[in-house]
Amino acid sequence: MPSPGGMRTIADEARAIRERAMRHEDDESELREAEASFASANPGYRDPEALHELREREYGRLDERGHTYLDYTGGGLYADSQLRRHLELLASDVFGNPHSHNPTSLASTAVVQSARSAVLAFFDADPAQYEVVFTQNASGALKLVGESYPFEPGGTYLLSYDNHNSVNGIREFARSRGADVVYVPVYRPDLRLDADLVRRHLTTPSNGPARLFAYPAQSNFSGVLHPLEWVRLAHDHGWDVLLDCAAFVPTNRLDLSAVKPDFVPLSFYKMFGYPTGIGALLVRREKLDQLRRPWFAGGTITLASVQGAGWYRLAPGAAGFEDGTVDYLGLSAVTIGLEHLSSVGIDRIHDRVCALAGWLLREMASQKHSNGAPMFRAFGPTGTDRRGATIAFYMLDPVGDVYDVYRIEKLAGEERISLRTGCFCNPGDGEIAHRITRDEMAECFEDTVPVTLAGCQRLIEDATGKVPNTIRVSLGIATTFGDVWRFMRFATSLTDRPAAYVAEPHEEPGSPALD
Ligand SMILES: Cc1ncc(COP(=O)(O)O)c(C=O)c1O
Repeated sequence: MPSPGGMRTIADEARAIRERAMRHEDDESELREAEASFASANPGYRDPEALHELREREYGRLDERGHTYLDYTGGGLYADSQLRRHLELLASDVFGNPHSHNPTSLASTAVVQSARSAVLAFFDADPAQYEVVFTQNASGALKLVGESYPFEPGGTYLLSYDNHNSVNGIREFARSRGADVVYVPVYRPDLRLDADLVRRHLTTPSNGPARLFAYPAQSNFSGVLHPLEWVRLAHDHGWDVLLDCAAFVPTNRLDLSAVKPDFVPLSFYKMFGYPTGIGALLVRREKLDQLRRPWFAGGTITLASVQGAGWYRLAPGAAGFEDGTVDYLGLSAVTIGLEHLSSVGIDRIHDRVCALAGWLLREMASQKHSNGAPMFRAFGPTGTDRRGATIAFYMLDPVGDVYDVYRIEKLAGEERISLRTGCFCNPGDGEIAHRITRDEMAECFEDTVPVTLAGCQRLIEDATGKVPNTIRVSLGIATTFGDVWRFMRFATSLTDRPAAYVAEPHEEPGSPALD
């Protein structure tokens, strides 16, 4: 209690600090106990001591600054040693633009080549079969496929509902060149595809123009892991396959010696946080030869003429697809990042995050208000079978009303918890999860004035009562039990609160719910 008159004295401050410290100690001992019992019941949470050591050594800034980071599908985190090693490397030599034969140019060429080799080695890709094209991000890789793929009338672009918008966007290239665009739906409650339906599509015979099948190895919305066996099935029936691995590779092993999709887009910042602005398209060499680029640029040609306006020769291999100068300084950080990921171990990361996601899902399912009403509704699989550590959900109040997701994000942020809200650029999963029909979506596209995501959500909510937005937490390389535990502690602080309680910013100092 502050002193009479509302003025906080030094004694008040000291008492508040003591109380906070005591609360922190209580929390810490409760957390240690919970973690010990979780670790002994979950062998997948391998070697918690090593994880704590890694966290302190490489990701100490999280705990120093009191962050609970739960947005790894948005962006991975970099280890301190990645930065140090990169800086040391840059400081130890002189690097020039690679497109020449002088010593500094050759130094950069070596950096680029070793990054290409490191990427191939990390994914067990045979260099005789796969080429690595460096891009700005996964979306850049996807655009390369879209603009260059030989879509034509009679051809097909087959894609799952739960693709990221950068995969959905390829349909515009397909359509404009006369190919059919066919979506395969996901189904509630798990937001999986119907395997029989996928099989039926893939086994439809055709001797016609090129057909491309695109799906995510892991949905960035529901966390669903789709069967990688579809790649071979599709190949056996004449399809090319684009396997979007952007949300998959940060916590799952992609073994390109066993599964051989034709096109694999990814972003490195999602895998190891740094650098941003570099992605790759891993592409089977035989398919690279079938892509037709709609333009050329500096670096992508061996020769072009101005007098002969139609004359140019595309450079062979990856060079023909890397517009301008690649990020030759950043690429050395890609090699370092891959080495870091290997040293921690992708299988170990996978096992840990899956164990932690299992704990979160079980906790979410068991949390109830005093009247017995559930506090969470998860979208996607509620068990750990064939799913990754990305969880989409609502929080519900005692009468089943949805807490405003943006306010939940804000309140979590006040506890320095980073989670994500919105639709995650995955409209298909969102539309099915929230039961939004085609006609309801159509309303958002009727007006001549462009509607924003928030505007569309409001339109649908007002018209139908459905709440078409979502909260997402996602786990990654540095996630500890403490992170998921702190999130649940925050979430359960809303127990018995009506949705209206979080709806608007309000002053309620000392409220137990928000403390
Ligand atoms: C599954 C998936 N594909 C593609 C992308 C696009 O990645 P970027 O924004 O790095 O281009 C994302 C980004 O979240 C993703 O999750």
